[in-house]
Amino acid sequence: MVKKIAVLVSGGGSNLQAIIDNITDINGNIVLVVSNKESAFGLTRAQNANIPTKVISKDDEKLIQTLKEYEVDLVVLAGYLAILTPEFINAFKDKIINIHPSLIPSFCGKGAYGINVAKMALQRGVKITGVTIHFVSEIVDGGPIIAQRAVDIADLNTAEDIQQRVLKTEHELLPWVIKKYCDDEIIIEDGRVKIK
Ligand code: GRF
Repeated sequence: MVKKIAVLVSGGGSNLQAIIDNITDINGNIVLVVSNKESAFGLTRAQNANIPTKVISKDDEKLIQTLKEYEVDLVVLAGYLAILTPEFINAFKDKIINIHPSLIPSFCGKGAYGINVAKMALQRGVKITGVTIHFVSEIVDGGPIIAQRAVDIADLNTAEDIQQRVLKTEHELLPWVIKKYCDDEIIIEDGRVKIK
């Protein structure tokens, strides 16, 4: 069955764009894009692709209700900077995935979002960082890891450059994971993810 995907954004939405650009390879459709911020450029990207959009902020009950109405099978957090309630996480158990711009468990958890993650990698002087896509659990950045990809940053000297290089890899890995999810090829066993 073709999966119904909702993408949640708060900002630029370049990862949303990567999904839109690869949707023909995926056994799924983006049925809705939700933002907690009216100004998010991700909303414009969705509208340009004729995808329905909604702005819902600080109202997880409404968010749950809306996603249920759209019969969503998969919720993709693509730069969604809002606190998720346990109710939301439980309502879509093992159906919410998040993309994080580092190799978890490095540079994650509280305060590790946006450019901060690249700054942390720069300050620590790591030569390799990367991308992690994981299921969302009640522990911030703590759910089962689905996929990771390393990014060599040894030659970079600014957080902005690190962020940009990492983003390119995000744009490849996220559509790949969504494709696997929609093909029912991702299984969680004892808290670990196996991809068929
Ligand atoms: C990405 O770096 C993603 O890893 C993080 O938020 C950023 C969103 O970027 N969760 P964009 O809005 O998709 O361009």
